Amino acid sequence: MGRIAIGTSQNDPRVLGRPLMSDHNLSARLWATAALISVPLASVWNYAWWLPLHLALLGAATQAIVGGQLMFSATLGLSRGPSRNLVLVQLLLLNVGALLVVGGRQWHSDAALAAGVVIVTVVIGWVTFLVHRLWSRSVNRRFAMTGVFYRLAGVSIILGATIGGALALGAFNDAASYLEHRSLHMTLNVLGWVGLTVVGTAITLLPTILHVRAPKIQQLRPAPWLMFGGLMVFSTGASLGLGWMASVGLATYAAGFAIFGFYVRKILAVKSRRQVPTAALHLVSAVAWLAVTVVAGIILTATSDHAALRDFIVVGGAAGFVFQALLGAWAFLLPSTRAPIPEQRRRELVAMELGGRLQVAAYNLGLVAAMVGLRTDIDISLAGIILAWTAAVSAMTKSWIFPYLGRLRGVQVRSDLWWAPPSDEGGASPPT
Ligand code: HEM
Repeated sequence: MGRIAIGTSQNDPRVLGRPLMSDHNLSARLWATAALISVPLASVWNYAWWLPLHLALLGAATQAIVGGQLMFSATLGLSRGPSRNLVLVQLLLLNVGALLVVGGRQWHSDAALAAGVVIVTVVIGWVTFLVHRLWSRSVNRRFAMTGVFYRLAGVSIILGATIGGALALGAFNDAASYLEHRSLHMTLNVLGWVGLTVVGTAITLLPTILHVRAPKIQQLRPAPWLMFGGLMVFSTGASLGLGWMASVGLATYAAGFAIFGFYVRKILAVKSRRQVPTAALHLVSAVAWLAVTVVAGIILTATSDHAALRDFIVVGGAAGFVFQALLGAWAFLLPSTRAPIPEQRRRELVAMELGGRLQVAAYNLGLVAAMVGLRTDIDISLAGIILAWTAAVSAMTKSWIFPYLGRLRGVQVRSDLWWAPPSDEGGASPPT
């Protein structure tokens, strides 16, 4: 498989593969920054974890996913993307919807919250329809599987967000039903909306980031159906209060995910002539966290341990998988969706490498400590959260200032070394 053009410098709807995602990434970074600022303030202002989590998941991750689905569908399918005006209207509505959900829940306004849920759900339905149309008119069927992942992800969040709205509006008033539906909401959104999108994108994005040829993707064909089918079995089991059925559903999801895991192993086995970038380290760690979360989920749904399931989905799923995948994708996509001026792009990609390995290690160690602290008597949760948060702040800071960092002399020197032609290659080439 050849290398994939992530973006072009023109912002013309008639140009295939144009950087549709830039507006989404700007807006999503604002939400992610707000999420990080809200973490230390949680203890000062005494609000629950729900707020930082939803600023990150409903605000940042959801907008980045919408932008990513549109951009990758247009790029991989060689289709004409939607106009920028239409994309901006959707993005504006997504912002209004997310603000109403977050504000409505914080200030106990059911009307605002309900309006927010309706707006978010309708806009994501609209985006899913556009994504469907891009793939059905696509002249390149080679990556059609990514379109299958994206459409199924869209269905997952429409169900997941609706259940979230019902939970928030008090539709489930007995404790058991509330907990079952909370598990359903978290799982459909984290494993469905984000999980299916990340897997569908990583099929081509991970080899591109690693500068290696992708293995054949046909082997992945059953993966989206096993993952989504598993989520539907899980949902039926969870809403009927049948733990064994919910667990079988997650095991089916795991079978689909395992096919992707073998594919990732094949990618990692290809010898790259370049160093492994921070983006790939974060993405692979995110995939590992999703695997841990799913395996834990299979056991915890069978035993109906809702509290432990929530801890795994929040720490492993939301922070380890979703937020980490976002940080990893940004480390590559933000420099790659700017104008393709080779020297500038090389330096900006290398700017993202500053402290990158330490950042990946600290983020993941911090989350392991937070998880151990939550599930055992060892009191290391706070230390873990501080460590992971510091690493995330460093990644977010770079996501804002990498164009300036790229101009530093030290970064230029490092960039020359990073992209120096390997002994058997004619010249250094940044990813396109
Ligand atoms: C339409 C928007 C959404 C609404 C109205 C909503 C509402 C809720 C509610 C009411 C809870 C239960 C809180 C509790 O029992 O304390 C919850 C929990 C959760 N939601 Fe959402 N949610 C939305 C979107 C999302 C999205 C898009 C994601 C992930 C991509 C997500 C992930 C989670 C997670 C991981 C939890 C468990 C954390 C916790 O209990 O605070 N939600 N949500």
